[in-house]
Amino acid sequence: RPVRWVLLNHLCALFCLSAACPVGYFKSVSGSNPCSVCPSNSRTSQEGSSVCECRSGFYRAANDANSTACTTPPSAPVSLTWEYESGDGGVSLRWRPPVEMGGRTEVWYGVVCRICPSPTFSNPAACSWCGEGVTFSPSQTNLKQTKVTLNNLLTRVTYLIQVQAMNEVSSLSPFPARYTSINFTTSQSVPSTVPMLHQLSRAPDSITLSWPQPDRPNGDILEYQLRYYDKVYVDSAMMVYSETNTVTVNALIPGSIYAFQIRARNERGYGPYSSTIYFTTLPLEEHSQQIQNRLPLLVGSVMGGAAFLLVVAAIIVVVVFRGVKYYVDPSTYEDPSEAVKEFAREIEPSHIKIEEVIGAAQFGEVSRGRYRPVGRREVLVAVKTLRWGASDREKGMFLSEAGVLGQFDHPNVLKLEGVVTRTPPERIITEFMENGPLDGFLRENEGQFSVLQLVGMLRGVGAGMRYLSERNFVHRDLAARNVLVNSNLVCKVSDFGLSRLMRAPEAFQHRKFSTASDVWSFGILMWEVMSYGERPYWDMSNQEVMKAVADQYRLPPPHNCPPALHSLMLQCWQAERGERPGFDQLLSSLDRLIRHPASLKAEPTRCSQPLLSPTPTDLTAVVTVGDWLKALRMERYQEEFDRANIDTLDRVSILTMEDVQNLGVNLLGHQRKIFSAAQQLRAHLTQGQVEV
Ligand SMILES: *[C@@H]1O[C@H](CO)[C@@H](O)[C@H](O)[C@H]1NC(C)=O
Ligand SMILES: *[C@@H]1O[C@H](CO)[C@@H](O)[C@H](O)[C@H]1NC(C)=O
Repeated sequence: RPVRWVLLNHLCALFCLSAACPVGYFKSVSGSNPCSVCPSNSRTSQEGSSVCECRSGFYRAANDANSTACTTPPSAPVSLTWEYESGDGGVSLRWRPPVEMGGRTEVWYGVVCRICPSPTFSNPAACSWCGEGVTFSPSQTNLKQTKVTLNNLLTRVTYLIQVQAMNEVSSLSPFPARYTSINFTTSQSVPSTVPMLHQLSRAPDSITLSWPQPDRPNGDILEYQLRYYDKVYVDSAMMVYSETNTVTVNALIPGSIYAFQIRARNERGYGPYSSTIYFTTLPLEEHSQQIQNRLPLLVGSVMGGAAFLLVVAAIIVVVVFRGVKYYVDPSTYEDPSEAVKEFAREIEPSHIKIEEVIGAAQFGEVSRGRYRPVGRREVLVAVKTLRWGASDREKGMFLSEAGVLGQFDHPNVLKLEGVVTRTPPERIITEFMENGPLDGFLRENEGQFSVLQLVGMLRGVGAGMRYLSERNFVHRDLAARNVLVNSNLVCKVSDFGLSRLMRAPEAFQHRKFSTASDVWSFGILMWEVMSYGERPYWDMSNQEVMKAVADQYRLPPPHNCPPALHSLMLQCWQAERGERPGFDQLLSSLDRLIRHPASLKAEPTRCSQPLLSPTPTDLTAVVTVGDWLKALRMERYQEEFDRANIDTLDRVSILTMEDVQNLGVNLLGHQRKIFSAAQQLRAHLTQGQVEV
């Protein structure tokens, strides 16, 4: 078109009153009023338009008039910075408004929070959402101000924060809001509160306390500070320091109530004090009665933080009763690795740092290491690694333990952190138990614990076993060597591998395993604990043990073992499985003993070597040594007895173990049986004299 014509046409749009508006002009109401030029960022595609359409990328908000300019979302905010808030460890973010407001006056902001795997991450896609832990003040979205404060951030974690700018037309745009981002790594902060204090033991002038680590140590704990004061004189607070989780406070007044608070220090400084817990020193009169007053962890905390413990107990009870699920045997899966997938979390190998090999296991080695899950604090872990070149079958057997362990969640059952199965070497990661297997731990600390502490440990194992039996899980190999102890002396049941079942197929074929057989094993474990890790049945061979047990012989009470505990063991060793108590009953019995420490007084035992027969030989009809040997079914040694001139029951009753050996009784089992029966005879004869 000639330029002149176009110009004319445009002039006419303004002045020729009745003409249709040309392209680029609009007239919202038809009539004699003039056409208007389309407002910014809008256009018409034909003559006679009543409204100008927005150009691509520009919009009119719902409340904008048709005659107004079209607008666009704002550009990104600028100059985003972060800093720690003074005091509480929160982080504040500040920024300046976008340079391009998109033709509008209003703007607001939204904050997106992600946690990244390391301070040197390069791909934001590797970062995960912060989740609900982090809080935003005043809010995360619809922020009208250019500042927001983030709280509850984790320490030593890298955050990636995006601040988006939005206005009324942002929601009309198909593109995401423009944002600016910043990443920062939070530094270490002080340790969190120590959750509780336990009384380990007490005397008239001292109290020994222990405590667990804070939930968030935020680095290495350098020391603990214990503050204490006589309840009456709050002003007289004193301090003691400890680098370990236990301390003995001395120079106290007998029979007085003291208040205790504890706090932990790391590189950054002291954390807050724990709440106050009260313990009482032993009154002198009680001390003189020589009552065992060293309390186990459990009892100490019941005395001190009764309310707290009750709440914890209530929670545990609720959880147990609400969600009892039966355990699923991984070997019932067609492909046992399915069970592993179902019950165990896959762990990124890069989140594990192996530190030191601490032992060998059936399928490889066990190491101590550290596991740092994204967004959680680093934890010490034990890592079982499958050795190179293991067969598929071995791999299946190795991983099945994780398939079992992953189904359990109880403070007295070893906790599974996860597995590595996607890339070799395959690994099973569990919590780390500082003190290792219970049997070795007790042997190393022989005589170091009070009876109540030992019973406290048994109670822990019993609680774990009750949990397992409620889930219909039969452990099959409960023994002190398969219980692990952590730094707080908490005992946890472990060793859930299927492999141990394969180890002795003949035993597996001929023995029926049930919870009642676990109860039998628990009785043996009680014996192991009370004897500080002594080998049950000492050096007797398996066959000798089986024979002795079938003949109703039972382990005698270990040295210093309270009779109440030995009688509990004997109940676990009832020949008839239906007559053995359940773990429920065992636990109540242990709790009763713990509540009444006087019932745990030990009676000095004589030689504790021979096995006890709970069904004593009937001695009423025994007159001669021959009768006696017959009653024992040991007639075969008549000749040996004759040769040694042991021809009266009195002489028999004073036989020592050495005498029995010298007689020429060669089988150890028989030696024990004869010696034990001789002791019994002696008791019988003395009793008779007393009665006379
Ligand atoms: C704006 O224009 C649209 C058509 O393009 C019409 O449907 C709407 O009613 C108009 N709004 C006003 C307020 O004139
Ligand atoms: C994280 O921040 C640093 C500077 O603080 C920067 O150099 C780096 O590129 C940022 N990384 C990402 C992925 O944004």
